[in-house]
Amino acid sequence: MTDADEIRHWWRTSIIDMEPGKIAFRGHPVQDLIGTVSFPQMIWLMLRGDLPSREQAALFECALVAGVDHGPQAPSIAAARMAATCGVGLNNVMATGVNMLGDVHGGAGEQCAELYENIAARMEGGAGLDQAVRDGLDEWRAAYGKIVSGFGHRFHKPVDPRAPRLMALVREAAEAGTVSGRFASIGEAVQDELGRQRGGRPIAMNIDGATAVIFCELGFPPPLSRGLFCLSRSVGVLAHGWEQMQQGGRNKGPMPPKFLPEYEPKDVTS
Ligand SMILES: CC(C)(COP(=O)(O)OP(=O)(O)OC[C@H]1O[C@@H](n2cnc3c(N)ncnc32)[C@H](O)[C@@H]1OP(=O)(O)O)[C@@H](O)C(=O)NCCC(=O)NCCS
Repeated sequence: MTDADEIRHWWRTSIIDMEPGKIAFRGHPVQDLIGTVSFPQMIWLMLRGDLPSREQAALFECALVAGVDHGPQAPSIAAARMAATCGVGLNNVMATGVNMLGDVHGGAGEQCAELYENIAARMEGGAGLDQAVRDGLDEWRAAYGKIVSGFGHRFHKPVDPRAPRLMALVREAAEAGTVSGRFASIGEAVQDELGRQRGGRPIAMNIDGATAVIFCELGFPPPLSRGLFCLSRSVGVLAHGWEQMQQGGRNKGPMPPKFLPEYEPKDVTS
């Protein structure tokens, strides 16, 4: 390979064709996209290379809308607001919030989608829904532990109001033939099984579990459940960071300063 070829091949992309005077995303000139596609359609195009139907884009948008915010009690939002009082720019504020979205908060959709896909594969192999759910949960727990991502909520017990609405929209989309509806059935069956395993105490399907249903229905691979949730929650992170900047406040910690963390002296002599 010549040096010129090596340089050209260093970054290879099917996403954008850009040269002076030309910007085309996935083969579509940007000037054709502006004014004709929605932001959710644009996200889909960038990630997958094709444009979704209007119905697919509408369901996708529902998931993006549902996850935008959960208030300053959510660690991502609290962290972003604290960052906003520290003299950093809005980009740093947003990065601080998004960096908090991990396996237990906001990023849980990725592992949840893996579980749903595992159960779907078992059903394709001939297992019934209930058996596939039990076996899928056993395998998932052997890898990740007893707490199942996408279920349970600190505040919304036993129902997270976002989940039933999103599942109803998936059912509507399934009736219209936009999606199959099988991941909604899987998600609800996992929720039922977890309730049974907790001695009949129902457990919420949370926002990560519900949006993972939609992302699986639409054919996004599991890691994108996390990435897409980050896009959605970035809206709330930005809004809270901006609001905090308008309110002012300097160097705000996690609690009013009159409250101090408990000091736990440790005996280091023994
Ligand atoms: C969100 C979460 C931290 C809430 O935890 P919590 O407030 O302690 O949950 P609850 O008080 O409702 O329930 C406690 C009991 O249910 C169990 N439980 C809670 N969430 C569970 C889950 N997702 N899977 C299995 N069991 C769960 C706990 O182990 C505990 O059992 P025990 O009483 O036998 O000890 C927890 O459910 C969780 O980590 N969920 C998975 C991560 C996730 O999806 N995060 C995104 C949140 S939007």
